[in-house]
Amino acid sequence: MIEVAGYRLVRDIETYLDDASGLHGAIFDRPWSRDDLQDLLVMPGTSGAAILSEGKGPAFAGFVLYQCVGDFAEILTLAVAPDHRRRGFGRWLMREAAEHAAAAGAEKLLLEVQDGNRSAIELYESLGMTTFDRRRNYYKSADGSHADAILMQLIFDI
Ligand SMILES: CC(C)(COP(=O)(O)OP(=O)(O)OC[C@H]1O[C@@H](n2cnc3c(N)ncnc32)[C@H](O)[C@@H]1OP(=O)(O)O)[C@@H](O)C(=O)NCCC(=O)NCCS
Repeated sequence: MIEVAGYRLVRDIETYLDDASGLHGAIFDRPWSRDDLQDLLVMPGTSGAAILSEGKGPAFAGFVLYQCVGDFAEILTLAVAPDHRRRGFGRWLMREAAEHAAAAGAEKLLLEVQDGNRSAIELYESLGMTTFDRRRNYYKSADGSHADAILMQLIFDI
């Protein structure tokens, strides 16, 4: 089990949707609003987790949303606040999603990530995820450039 001193993982992500949408909007080109996140969370099989500081003051370190569908689970989004990175929070959130998905009966965990997103790809590879497909020019940036989507999977040991 992962633990980081001074921080805790919470599963009632609904309580923190303002923080989550604020972080999402600060990081991604296509931000998800609070309502977007709420709409995802009412879909069957969707869960999430967030990491918070145990100290005083606002410290929302990051969150993950994922969905279990039949025999697989998919990461919908993952974000760690820039000032909280490289402290193990991304790995903690991914492990939480993988463990919950496996316990719910999923046989594998899937996600897509933009080609060139080195921090995310290295995180996923460090967890044992492997690339199984690529979608050419799937992402379009604000400047009009395109990037491939890399599809990765983690097969659970059953
Ligand atoms: C990707 C992201 C979630 C990683 O979160 P994080 O909390 O910094 O990651 P961790 O500290 O748990 O790192 C775990 C491992 O990932 C890899 N990693 C993370 N950041 C990295 C970086 N900048 N460069 C290279 N490897 C990196 C390393 O293997 C690291 O292990 P190490 O620290 O022992 O070397 C974070 O950078 C982020 O939110 N990025 C923007 C949003 C995003 O791209 N989300 C994913 C969309 S698919």
